[in-house]
Amino acid sequence: MPDALQTIIDGLTASSKYRDLAPAALERTARWALERQSKPAAALKVAKRKLHQAFGAYLDPGALNAVDKALDELEAGGDLRDICSRVLRLHRSSAERRASLEAFYNVIWDETGLPTNVLDVAAGLNAFALPWMGLPAETRYHALEIDRRLCSATDRLLCATGLPGEATWSDVLSDFSPGTPDVALILKTLPCLEQQEPGASDAILTALASVPLIVITFPVRSLGGQEKGMRENYLDQIERLAGRNHRDLTVLPFDDELIAILRRAES
Ligand SMILES: C[S@@+](CC[C@H](N)C(=O)[O-])C[C@H]1O[C@@H](n2cnc3c(N)ncnc32)[C@H](O)[C@@H]1O
Repeated sequence: MPDALQTIIDGLTASSKYRDLAPAALERTARWALERQSKPAAALKVAKRKLHQAFGAYLDPGALNAVDKALDELEAGGDLRDICSRVLRLHRSSAERRASLEAFYNVIWDETGLPTNVLDVAAGLNAFALPWMGLPAETRYHALEIDRRLCSATDRLLCATGLPGEATWSDVLSDFSPGTPDVALILKTLPCLEQQEPGASDAILTALASVPLIVITFPVRSLGGQEKGMRENYLDQIERLAGRNHRDLTVLPFDDELIAILRRAES
């Protein structure tokens, strides 16, 4: 590996904010940064900025320590719903969904049927929504996430509750192994993946070609709460994405999030 590349990776690994991101993501981002800035110090700066947009923006400092404390309480016999509700508040994406959680999953399973094996791509802290998901106790829940600490939180929750499933620490843009789910969830994440690598949405859908049902959602308001025509923009994007990937598209009526079901077209 060239020295400059290793210097950027070492700089990212030394940062408490980024050292828990999947190594493949650090290398991918370091390469991207070096294509734009030849000097290592400047490249390290743009690499950190890029990772902040992809990942750091969703978690406040201290959020992960609070998740760990909540899990300690759960393992000591605390109330599952109360603790999960508090944890969901600690990640911006799941915090926004808390008020309509049951309705959100009801409307999805009404369309897809109840899955037996769910893959949650770039899951964040979404496992903590399991008490409201309405899944059968034997349904397997598999989360993929770039941040090792979010993966261990998910694994601790699954272990404490005895629910079947696991979390895999991975960069879905470098090493995506979807397994054989019947439903894949990609919740509010495609814009973040596209921003890391243009064309990421098509690459992910290609990797999920054998999965019968893919649930893709988009935010309808920015992190600051503004609407800015986001629903219309994302609707246009999802229609084109479904068409290119030969998927039948159903858009579900739901106010707080744009929910699209992409069904493998019958051949
Ligand atoms: C917008 S949040 C959505 C979280 C979750 N899907 C939800 O809706 O509650 C995006 C998540 O993707 C994760 N992420 C970003 N880039 C990733 C990548 N390349 N591979 C895996 N996970 C990634 C981030 O850490 C973050 O938790």
